[in-house]
Amino acid sequence: MIVAKTIAQTRQHIVGARAVGKTIGCVPTMGGLHAGHLSLIRRCRQECDFAVVTLFVNPTQFAPGEDLDNYPRSFEADAKMCREIGVDLIFAPDNRQMYPGENLTWVNVEKISSGLCGASRPHHFRGVCTVVAKLFHIVTPDIAYFGQKDAQQLSLIRRMVADLNFSVEIRSCPTVRDKDGLALSSRNQYLTAQERQQAVCLYRALNHAREIIASGAQNAAAVIAAMTEIVEQSSHARIDYISIVDNELLQPVELINRPVLVALAIHFGSTRLIDNIVVEPPAAKR
Ligand code: PAJ
Repeated sequence: MIVAKTIAQTRQHIVGARAVGKTIGCVPTMGGLHAGHLSLIRRCRQECDFAVVTLFVNPTQFAPGEDLDNYPRSFEADAKMCREIGVDLIFAPDNRQMYPGENLTWVNVEKISSGLCGASRPHHFRGVCTVVAKLFHIVTPDIAYFGQKDAQQLSLIRRMVADLNFSVEIRSCPTVRDKDGLALSSRNQYLTAQERQQAVCLYRALNHAREIIASGAQNAAAVIAAMTEIVEQSSHARIDYISIVDNELLQPVELINRPVLVALAIHFGSTRLIDNIVVEPPAAKR
């Protein structure tokens, strides 16, 4: 496995792989790898000839006061896991490689970025799209893999790729969960034992939404109210949002009569957890 710290090294190896006809796959990550990331990396390994994992804690997607400084960094463990899966190249740049000077050019995907997490993290997705655009230009993947866990991010990247004619196919991978249903996240390790126990309320609320929509509930506000009730049973939970939006532009819907994204963000102390599911109402299935 090649460990490349610079853009120049990475480009050189990619050119080499392309020259012998290999397809390039890429899994962008911020490291702190867990089984969720590994599911993307394994799929990339299976479907592409040359598998690239990027490990970069991107400062431009963190607002001042967010967890940039405390974000888990575990390069050795990450590299070991990648090696075991058979990754061909890790791109692990430092901040100076990625942002050598003041960054004046930003990728802003309008509309899709304004609601859900974008409402409480106003510059977050600008940072995400910009760094992913940069990573795509550096790695030039044929296929890139993203988790459904970050559904808004996935929609934004798909739209950025379409609107800006990137030559990459985006593939989404299902959310990997712990035994009790909590979506795996690098941030779960910040939770206290009691918060961890209560954090399953995100999954419970989503499951309840799935059930009542399956049995005919169509009023989004009523479904959100039922989910709110479940989350509020957890004494440590503080709701950022619980939303039901259309699955393309992520705009709030009032009536659930087509596939929707049910999404929520919940604070436990200083830790913010997100989760979502896509639900198809019974009528839309027919
Ligand atoms: P990060 O949070 O490290 O996530 C990297 C990828 O792993 C994302 O596509 C995310 O959706 C996916 N992922 C995380 N938890 C998952 C889970 N439980 N199941 C399945 N997939 C999961 O997302 C980012 O990094 C950054 O914003 C990035 C795109 C790298 C840009 O900096």
